[in-house]
Formats: sequence, structure tokens, C-alpha cells
Amino acid sequence: MAKTITMGIQKGGCGKSTTTGILAHLMKENDYRVLVIDMDSQGNLTELLSGMSSNEFIGKSVLEAMQQNNVHDYLYKVEENLDLLPANNFLATFARWMYTSKTYSGDTISFSGSPTLILDNLLDQVRDEYDFILIDTPPSLSEQTTNALCASEFVVVMYECSNWCYSAIPNFMDSIESAFEIGKRKTEAIGILRTMNDVRRSDSKAFNEIIAEDFPNLVFETVITRKAPVGRLSLYGFKENKELKKALEQYLHFYEELMERVKD
Ligand SMILES: Nc1ncnc2c1ncn2[C@@H]1O[C@H](COP(=O)(O)OP(=O)(O)OP(=O)(O)O)[C@@H](O)[C@H]1O
Ligand SMILES: [Mg+2]
Repeated sequence: MAKTITMGIQKGGCGKSTTTGILAHLMKENDYRVLVIDMDSQGNLTELLSGMSSNEFIGKSVLEAMQQNNVHDYLYKVEENLDLLPANNFLATFARWMYTSKTYSGDTISFSGSPTLILDNLLDQVRDEYDFILIDTPPSLSEQTTNALCASEFVVVMYECSNWCYSAIPNFMDSIESAFEIGKRKTEAIGILRTMNDVRRSDSKAFNEIIAEDFPNLVFETVITRKAPVGRLSLYGFKENKELKKALEQYLHFYEELMERVKD
């Protein structure tokens, strides 16, 4: 049975998509069967993994999978053991569909059950086909995010070492708590990953330390710093990328820490 892990925080640019892509790559390299779900209409992770424009997936994305209540027809095979449910701009119409049953193309499609469990119910179709399901979320506490949280056992809280990210943490923790109460997966924060650390800035170091004082049992030991090869993953991807090893370097310890925490 797959373990489902969401990467989230409602603050933008904290490394959610990058980290999800890297984790998927590392899990696949370690022979795990991985399904990645892009729940962000920006489609960044879709583009990172597929190497294609997210517009290529119009009509073939996670949105239609949820509306048709059918995962298999919408899986995009990235590589052996790595599948993707892609996203594009139309995912921004998800909430409208949830509340009105009107799809972006004007059809009327209803769903059964709770609106916050649409994704969770959908994933039940494939949970026994993967070891891990990884979900990337948008920078908001939107319906996509609440669906992702309710569909997950584990949440990695992405923490960019800055004041505005620090102030996003309490509401995000509350959302995880709500998912625990509303959903059926006992959703829990599995850790806080400190990212985008700028080693030259003392305020960055301070925000690093503050979060560790607030959540001593949750922060991962690994602190991800800003490094050009990581930023350039969006350009070169995971295949034929000469600096891939450099890009992955600082994520290897985080990967081990995470796997240790999610093991049975
Ligand atoms: N460790 C890093 N070093 C340098 N650049 C990075 C690093 N991690 C991510 N980036 C870059 O920073 C930007 C933001 O990262 P990313 O898109 O992964 O964040 P996000 O949290 O998914 O953003 P959003 O909230 O918009 O979805 C991207 O341009 C990415 O390539
Ligand atoms: Mg993103």
C-alpha cells in the first residue's frame, strides 16, 4: 500500500515543486514505484518531470482524472517506476467545479462524497500499485491543498527561512490538524524542511534557529541552501543533466531522514 506524502506551505517559492521532483527521482532510483501528483495549476512539477509545456496536458490532467473519477486513463509515464498525474492552468477551475458541478468546458459533472476527499477517493484506485505517492501543492490554502492534505498520511512542511514563511506556519499546521479530523488517513506533519537558506544572511540563520526552537522534534537536520545547480534543474531536468549530482547532493541526507521517519 502506497504511503502518500504532500509537500506544502501556503507561502510561494519555498522549494515545494523542486523538492517533490527530487524526492520522486531519488525514490525511483532506489527502485520504489512512485506516483507524483501535481496539484498546482502553475504546472511547474509537470514541466520539471515531463520536460514538456503544461499546456500539452490540457484535457489530460489531474483535473479531468478527478472529474471523471478515473486515474488510470490520465497517468503520464515519466520513466519506469515513475508516473505523473499532470497539471495545467485549468486546475484553477477546480474549486468552481467543486461548488457548481460545472467544468471549464461547460459540462455538468457531479461527484459523490465530501468535496475535500475527492482526491483521496480517487487515489484509492491506485494505492496498491505504488510504494509512494508524492503530491505537490500550490502556494495557498486552497481546495487543491486541502484535498492533498486529506489524501495524505504525511506532510512535509516546507519552510523557507524568512519572516513571511514563519508567519505562514501556524495556519498551515492548523490545516494539517483539520485534515486529520476531516479525512480518513490520520494526516500528520512528518517534518519541517528548512529550505532556500542563504548562508550569507544572518536573518536567514536566525529564522532557521527560531523554527528549530518552536518545533524541535519536527525540523529535519538537513538544511537546504540556495545552490545554482538546484535552481537550474528547472532548465535541465533529470535526464542528461551534467550537474545533476551537484543538484542532488544536499538532498541525499534529507531523503534518508524522511525515509527513516515514514518507515513502518
Ligand atoms: N535549493 C535551491 N537553490 C536554488 N534555487 C532553488 C532551490 N530550490 C528551488 N530553487 C528555485 O527557486 C524557485 C522556487 O522553487 P520552487 O518552484 O520549487 O518553489 P515552490 O514552493 O514550488 O514555489 P510555488 O509556491 O510558486 O509553487 C524556482 O525557480 C526553483 O528553481
Ligand atoms: Mg511549486
